[in-house]
Amino acid sequence: MQIKYDTILVLDFGGQYCHLIGRRIREHGVFSEIVPPEITSVEILALNEKFNIKGLILSGGPSSVFEPGAPRIDPKILELNLPVLGLCYGHQLVAQIVGGKVSRASCREYGIAEVNIDKAVGVLSGLSEKETVWMSHGDTVSAVPSDFEVLAHTDSCPVAAYRSKQKPIYGLQWHPEVVHTKNGALMLRNFVFEVCHCETNWKMDDLIERMINEIKTDVGTSTAIIGLSGGIDSSVATALAAEALGDKLTAVFVDHGFMREGEPEAIRDTFKDFNINFVMVNAQNRFMEKLEGVSEPEKKRKIIGEEFIRVFEEAAKKSGAEYLLQGTIYPDRIESGFRKNSDVIKSHHNVAGLPAKMDFKKIVEPLRDLYKDEVRKVAVMLNLPRELVNRQPFPGPGLAVRIIGELTEEKVTITKKADAIVRQEIEKNCVAENLWQYFAVLTDTKATGVKGDSRAYGYVVAVRAAESREAMTANFARIPYPVLEKISTRITNEIPEVTRVVYDITHKPPATIEWE
Ligand code: XMP
Repeated sequence: MQIKYDTILVLDFGGQYCHLIGRRIREHGVFSEIVPPEITSVEILALNEKFNIKGLILSGGPSSVFEPGAPRIDPKILELNLPVLGLCYGHQLVAQIVGGKVSRASCREYGIAEVNIDKAVGVLSGLSEKETVWMSHGDTVSAVPSDFEVLAHTDSCPVAAYRSKQKPIYGLQWHPEVVHTKNGALMLRNFVFEVCHCETNWKMDDLIERMINEIKTDVGTSTAIIGLSGGIDSSVATALAAEALGDKLTAVFVDHGFMREGEPEAIRDTFKDFNINFVMVNAQNRFMEKLEGVSEPEKKRKIIGEEFIRVFEEAAKKSGAEYLLQGTIYPDRIESGFRKNSDVIKSHHNVAGLPAKMDFKKIVEPLRDLYKDEVRKVAVMLNLPRELVNRQPFPGPGLAVRIIGELTEEKVTITKKADAIVRQEIEKNCVAENLWQYFAVLTDTKATGVKGDSRAYGYVVAVRAAESREAMTANFARIPYPVLEKISTRITNEIPEVTRVVYDITHKPPATIEWE
């Protein structure tokens, strides 16, 4: 019998971190489902056939409650007597619906903030008088009706948190789901267990079984190919697909020429021990030809996305495959702006970079709802090799999105060398362990230098090293100066075309991890 999970529904208002809320709930062993904000109270009740709906979270989003056409909710949802937690936009929307006062923003405020907890109850139980939280908002709740009470405030935000005095309805102006909110996990925990009284009856193993079954159902008796880049996502997707499809699966590794030094060989070595059909396609020339003269980042990503598909189509023709599997994960989709209320941050090659017409019956993406660290956990459970589990993420378009402006053979060669130096020095000096990614970017700026006794005019290389849990937010890493110095000295000595090395000290947001 299918177990009925205690479930928290997350109403998606298009915020960049909406899905992260669902994932944080799952971390507590409780199931969570993301649903569109138009869901009605009747539809929510109907979902109880499949799940035990225990509470609702209204996510943040880019809209203002004052905009015409801004997403709203069926007000009857607040009468279901289900616990509700509004976050950011959700916090403002609920306040507006229940008769509170929302004030228009004169400017947007985002980043780390210190919040004063006036009443540490309910969702805020166990918190100190002052808490560090992460906010990103324009409008502000300035007053709540008499049947509500204020639980927290900041200098610029008189009602940073509230709750109803009669019903289990809460609002927080900040984002407990991002790691910058120090006690965010505790706040969500309080909501899930203290307010919604959920039981922990969901686990990762259920997910693996569900993903394998889904691949079997999608592909049926037909055959499939899978795009294998050697990164953790496509490797895990390949392992799941191999389990589901056996020899009905062919894994295709496309060498587009923008891989790191030694990478194609390393990938072939890793996968030779797998019991799968493995095909390596050398597509270096065709990618370079298609990208000639293109410098706009989104255009580059779209061209790369399309060319990948064309190579896969040709490989599929050879093996007779009708389905394409990809290791797309959730952040790829969210940044590509696949949801109605969200913005496009960048077109990940395997999502928004896909061409409109494709010669496949269906694209199957078993990992589409997972984050990278969840994928790593699945990899460990599937007993994938250690070096694969711990490999730093590498974007599908490869160094092409780390070379700013037009791509040339010269720039690719310089970037490969600089990247190898960054990797070697960071790994040699044991600072890699806590890093999400570390790499070199070739900027399209040139700068004057002096090499020997002569003037030099050459490229500026940027070094990027970031710490992150799931790539939705990231901090630049505080790499020790001696390591940075060694990297800089080696790059300028060993790559004559480079005169200057800079270190990227921007967090995400406002930057992204990759430069393009
Ligand atoms: P950003 O640059 O958006 O990157 O902060 C978040 C994470 O995603 C990786 N990334 C990609 N991965 N295809 C991929 O498979 C892509 O088009 C792509 N773009 C970025 C990036 O390396 C980082 O880990």
